[in-house]
Amino acid sequence: MLEVRNVNVFHGDAQALEDISLSVEAGTIVAIVGANGAGKTSLIRTIGGMHRPASGRILFEGADIAGLPSHLVCDLGVGQVAEGRQIFPALSVAENLDMGAMLPRARRKRVQNRERVQAMFPKLRERLWQAAGTLSGGEQQMLAIARCLMGEPKLIMFDEPSLGLAPTIVHDVLQTIRDLNAAGTTCVLVEQNVAVSLKIAHKAYVLENGRVTITGTGEALLSDERVRRAYLGV
Ligand SMILES: Nc1ncnc2c1ncn2[C@@H]1O[C@H](COP(=O)(O)OP(=O)(O)O)[C@@H](O)[C@H]1O
Ligand SMILES: [Mg+2]
Repeated sequence: MLEVRNVNVFHGDAQALEDISLSVEAGTIVAIVGANGAGKTSLIRTIGGMHRPASGRILFEGADIAGLPSHLVCDLGVGQVAEGRQIFPALSVAENLDMGAMLPRARRKRVQNRERVQAMFPKLRERLWQAAGTLSGGEQQMLAIARCLMGEPKLIMFDEPSLGLAPTIVHDVLQTIRDLNAAGTTCVLVEQNVAVSLKIAHKAYVLENGRVTITGTGEALLSDERVRRAYLGV
């Protein structure tokens, strides 16, 4: 579904991504793990059209999307749940959801999609007319995911969805990602929480200083000596 080939990205003079290649098969969960500053967000934002790669190709369902503006990438079905949720705190939950339905691909199905995401997240239904900024951290993460679903993405890229959440809520968020995947959505999961994301990933990439250093199934990486020493504290 998604293929990144030999991508290089710079922020000014500093190289953030170096010769990155990876592939995401339809229907899978692919984890991209690595320490703070490794380039995970830069990678997601490059796929999403917020950074233009200096070189390399990014193929989504066969079409080269490298350098395409982000609204066009979104409209092809590439959704993003950004680091730090990025909801609109002063707007109501309902208004936040409607923001996610502005994409041409989903505009006409706004009402059905609202019904669908509210059924999925009953807490949001209860709080529809509340300002989104008054929600708990976990509820805001659910809202960010629900808003993304309003755009009917085929692929969702989650950037650090567990960051700053209590362990029980982290569990809920990961279960939500599993459920979405089971229902057919392809997922790219970016996490510093390496143990947890490898457990639910079909395939994983370790990113270090802007390069892919280790690749394998989630299971294989969980028992990889280098991963255990560097990221799992074993
Ligand atoms: N907009 C930017 N301008 C300049 N440098 C940036 C920018 N965004 C990220 N960086 C740098 O690029 C590197 C990778 O950052 P990032 O992609 O945010 O990593 P991660 O998400 O893995 O923590 C870091 O050294 C960071 O300081
Ligand atoms: Mg990041």
